[in-house]
Amino acid sequence: MENKTVYLNGQYLPLNEAKISVLDRGFLFGDGVYEVIPSYSGHLFHFQDHLKRLENSLAAIRLSNPHTSEQWLEILTPLLDANFDQYIYLQITRGTAEKRDHAFPSNTPATVFAMCSNIVPLPGLNAGVKAISMDDSRWKLCNVKAITLLGNILHRQEAIDQDCTEALLVKDGFVTEGAASNVFAVIDGVLCTPPKGNDILPGITRDVILDIARRNNIPCREEKISFAALQTASEIWVTSSTREIIPVVELDSRIVSDGKPGPVWQIMNQLFQDYKQSLL
Ligand code: PDD
Repeated sequence: MENKTVYLNGQYLPLNEAKISVLDRGFLFGDGVYEVIPSYSGHLFHFQDHLKRLENSLAAIRLSNPHTSEQWLEILTPLLDANFDQYIYLQITRGTAEKRDHAFPSNTPATVFAMCSNIVPLPGLNAGVKAISMDDSRWKLCNVKAITLLGNILHRQEAIDQDCTEALLVKDGFVTEGAASNVFAVIDGVLCTPPKGNDILPGITRDVILDIARRNNIPCREEKISFAALQTASEIWVTSSTREIIPVVELDSRIVSDGKPGPVWQIMNQLFQDYKQSLL
């Protein structure tokens, strides 16, 4: 195991020395939230947006933010290495109570953990990936970035088992998002993505893409996408902080358009890379 330095409850220490109690509520109940923040050449990407989403996730589970944004920056910066594209994983749980009890403990400090990993792009991602569709089996608070990810994990694993990269989730006939990504589709020449709400995580990459599209006069809409419409899309993408914008070239064993990343993806991917560079 790589023995990098991680942050745990006020201390920097080697990964293999970072230990928490088995009574931690993250371990016992999945009672916590997390963030994944990319860092390019040592610069955290859209840091304030990630912190805002963290604040919303914490509020949704009734946990107060243990740090100010200045403190977060101070905590996370030493973990970064400017020589690599990386991502910070940070997790906050409701801490370690004296006994296992579903009810919130009182006066228990949160557990705060953060580590940094290099972003290693999967080979061939830009050539496009295969995806399956699945009935969205998750809960009703998908807007909260909760560490309780069993639903997402089972969906993703089903995709992997079928030699695919991502599972696109469908609820009541409408696409929500991927198991660990947001979904975009080009339908009748318009770039569409499902609207924010409790059915999806409000992805930071999603927001950046919409912003780039609007600034570059690429027609786009936030609207519900029926599964039937998705099947007619000329392009499908999945987006996330760690994988950016990945074209889906095969859905449920059916080729999307000509089976190659489409022209809108080519344009958006370039604009996205240029935008990343412009922030350095
Ligand atoms: N996941 N939807 C879900 C369910 C996700 O898990 C993610 C990202 C996204 C995209 O959000 P963003 O663009 O802010 O990364 C959407 C991260 C990368 C993860 O769990 O590792």
